[in-house]
Amino acid sequence: MLEPYKTPIFNEEEALEVSRNLTEIFTRRRTIRQFSSQKPEREIVENAIDVARLSPSGANKQPWTFALIENQQIKESIRELSELEEHRFYVEKPNKKWIKDLAHIHPKKEKEFLTKAPFLIVIFYRHFDLEDDGEKSTNYYAKESAGIATGMLISALHMCGLSTLTYTPKRMQFLTQLLDRPQNERPFMLLGVGKPCPMAEVPVLSKKSLNSVLKTYL
Ligand SMILES: Cc1cc2nc3c(=O)[nH]c(=O)nc-3n(C[C@H](O)[C@H](O)[C@H](O)COP(=O)(O)O)c2cc1C
Repeated sequence: MLEPYKTPIFNEEEALEVSRNLTEIFTRRRTIRQFSSQKPEREIVENAIDVARLSPSGANKQPWTFALIENQQIKESIRELSELEEHRFYVEKPNKKWIKDLAHIHPKKEKEFLTKAPFLIVIFYRHFDLEDDGEKSTNYYAKESAGIATGMLISALHMCGLSTLTYTPKRMQFLTQLLDRPQNERPFMLLGVGKPCPMAEVPVLSKKSLNSVLKTYL
């Protein structure tokens, strides 16, 4: 079944203006590792998740769950288990090349942000859903879909003045159990969300230029 598509809200002139402003707005998006203790309205975060759920997905399967965590005890458990994973990564089975690449970005295995960020969001994806009769229904490109939804989520939060820290301990399976999610849900990513601390600093990094990443075929 088809229905009329509601066209975008901008005319061409406005669209050009918006597109020019977006680069400036997104140049200011940076991963923040020091959050302010001032808590943003939860509704802002929920509205950003409301945007993320509209993301495209393989065969429209929408294979995601967004776990929004404010509970301090849960944050502390997540931090404890994450730091165990970090210990494995940095001390027990160090990958020297990887650790060297991270040295100027996030060199510490202590993850204070996990207890300091006012919100944590864990994005889960599902390779399959379970139908009422117990049959498995495949979700196509589940991980890619979760990645796009997470990008939309980060963008929506940024547009509302909130910062994020994309966090990916090497093994995240403990989150399924800790957050009491079904076994077919795999953690995809963990986001720390909040206002940046007024004294927050970010590593000096350069971004590839448009010319170096864009190949135009006229
Ligand atoms: C898939 C992915 C995984 C990441 N994992 C971590 C992480 O585990 N810890 C962390 O501090 N930052 C992590 N980051 C943030 C990156 O270090 C950061 O995006 C990159 O250095 C560029 O900086 P910017 O986001 O400020 O532009 C991750 C980012 C992505 C996209």
